[in-house]
Amino acid sequence: MDKILIRGGIPLQGTVEISGAKNATLPTLAAALLTDEPLRLTHVPHLRDVTTMLELLGQHGANITVDEQLGVEIACTQISNTLAPYDLVRTMRASVLVMGPLVARCGDARISLPGGCAIGSRPVNLHLAGLEAMGAEVQLTSGYIHAKAKRLHGARIVLDLVTVTGTENLMMAATLADGRTILENAACEPEVTDLALCLNSMGACIRGAGTSTIVIDGVERLHGTRHDILPDRIETATFLMAAAMTRGDITLTNTSPTLLESPIAKLRQTGVIIEEQANSLRIYPKPDSRLRAVNIKTCPYPGFPTDLQAQMMALVSVAEGSGAITETIFENRFMHVSELQRLGADISLQGNTALVRGVPKLHGAPVMATDLRASASLVLAGLAAEGETLISRVYHIDRGYERIEEKLMALGANIQRLS
Ligand code: UD1
Repeated sequence: MDKILIRGGIPLQGTVEISGAKNATLPTLAAALLTDEPLRLTHVPHLRDVTTMLELLGQHGANITVDEQLGVEIACTQISNTLAPYDLVRTMRASVLVMGPLVARCGDARISLPGGCAIGSRPVNLHLAGLEAMGAEVQLTSGYIHAKAKRLHGARIVLDLVTVTGTENLMMAATLADGRTILENAACEPEVTDLALCLNSMGACIRGAGTSTIVIDGVERLHGTRHDILPDRIETATFLMAAAMTRGDITLTNTSPTLLESPIAKLRQTGVIIEEQANSLRIYPKPDSRLRAVNIKTCPYPGFPTDLQAQMMALVSVAEGSGAITETIFENRFMHVSELQRLGADISLQGNTALVRGVPKLHGAPVMATDLRASASLVLAGLAAEGETLISRVYHIDRGYERIEEKLMALGANIQRLS
């Protein structure tokens, strides 16, 4: 199993290109199931989760062509089966995103229940309640969700909680439903807006994406289109934090500062300088000053993203002062705490809050990645630490960060993958 070895303490320098967003790519790939014409996507990141989604689409009968420029064409001329098997769903919860499109197009979907994962129980009850409100009959048998409907109809759906993939699943299902669907308390994440942009260019009629009320007027059919995936805001902020923690000076290209207002504001509070251009960002340290600790509370967009909580905890670990980091989205997203402690971080947990007292230096040690973003936090800590950090189970990081060690190496980091 691959490991990553980091010899820390080197300030990052240079320019890094940000990849397309994983969390926009996955639902947009699932949207290909809604039409019998080809969907062509560009800036598709080369990630394990993307490969898993392509494998799943292949099982449904999709014809997939991948070119060398990170372009993918998916043609679902015919859907040969509507089963999303346990083997694929258990490796990636976002597989559940095929449910809405399959029910809308074929009237039938059999999706393995995702089950628990490292960051909590993560149920899909809101996806199911929404489909039921649109007329689907939903049964749970032998670990599978079976949803069927002759044709879905429009409905007013008030989501109990803000759910990103729930909003995306229901928005996709509603594009082919009979009549108007109104999603209240919808997720406002930029990846939802990007999906709506793609669906509208396929002929859907969606208004309000990016706000908490999305109105979808169902149409008879969708057609193929071309769509460019938006930049990955989580990857962008992870690199910003890597630079901040190593007192580096880096420029990030092919990204969009407007996707990151809350993380950028927080980073500025830590004392770094961030310059924004339309499609790029530069970060560098103030002379002679150490990072300052900040408090963080994760919230749905536009609040501070839960997908950056672990990385920010690594940053506060080496800052001056103390910071309280409160996780409000997932119940068990602190698996990285004990690993950061192995590197010398001073963190105590009280319920859903981690109290982090900054230390002047972390020290390299062997650590284990437990989930995708936790593994990113360990890479950041390793880059800032003195000595060698050996991270095992790095397959987690390959789910969501494209060529992370290559990108960091190009910025001067001493990092290598050991197979
Ligand atoms: C998506 C992102 C993930 C991010 C998360 C929160 C993708 C592929 N993944 O995950 O990276 O961390 O948003 O920003 O886009 N919930 C329910 N019932 C449901 C659905 C959700 O109770 O039916 C709860 C969850 O347990 C969680 C909260 O709602 O506590 C938010 O989860 P949700 O937004 O659905 O996360 P995902 O869409 O799975």
